[in-house]
Amino acid sequence: MKNNITKPEAKQIWEKYLKTEYLRLHTIESEAIMRKLAKHFGKDEDLWGNTGLLHDLDMDVINGDYRMHGIKTVEILKNEGFEIPVMFDAIISHAEGVNEGGAKRTTDFDYILSAAENITGMISAYVAVLPEKKIAGAKPSSIIKRLKTKAFAASVNREFIYDIEKTGLKLDVFIQLSIDAMSEIAEEIGM
Ligand SMILES: [Fe+2]
Repeated sequence: MKNNITKPEAKQIWEKYLKTEYLRLHTIESEAIMRKLAKHFGKDEDLWGNTGLLHDLDMDVINGDYRMHGIKTVEILKNEGFEIPVMFDAIISHAEGVNEGGAKRTTDFDYILSAAENITGMISAYVAVLPEKKIAGAKPSSIIKRLKTKAFAASVNREFIYDIEKTGLKLDVFIQLSIDAMSEIAEEIGM
């Protein structure tokens, strides 16, 4: 079993299992944000980026059975020959409260993955209602305002986003880094 995964290896597995277009966009965005945050914290950019890219790997496989969400991803990655506990714990706990087994977020890395993958939904929903539908010029204050409006992008887990502050990172700084990360791949994600 390999205890780390390169970017090409992660991309190859992602290509193999994740086919739904919006999930591909969501996971590419999550990867970009995780890479940006790794740089911010001086951490392993490939580990963080690949965790973002692969966190929803099982979504086309579980077919709506969220009890298996995250758990199935880890099973797939093990079958592919990988054993990466830090990554696996974050992937399983990003479905805290949803999947079987009662996994909880405990480490900074867990909190960061959960916040990152949820903020993509918030930023995408915000950009989608702008006249030009462009991320350029988006501000943390605008996103924070939408976070407070429960009905806006209602499926986005606010608690997981606010929990970013458990890592010592301020919410507005986190959102700015996320906007920056998504802006850098704006063309690829169509905003
Ligand atoms: Fe996700």
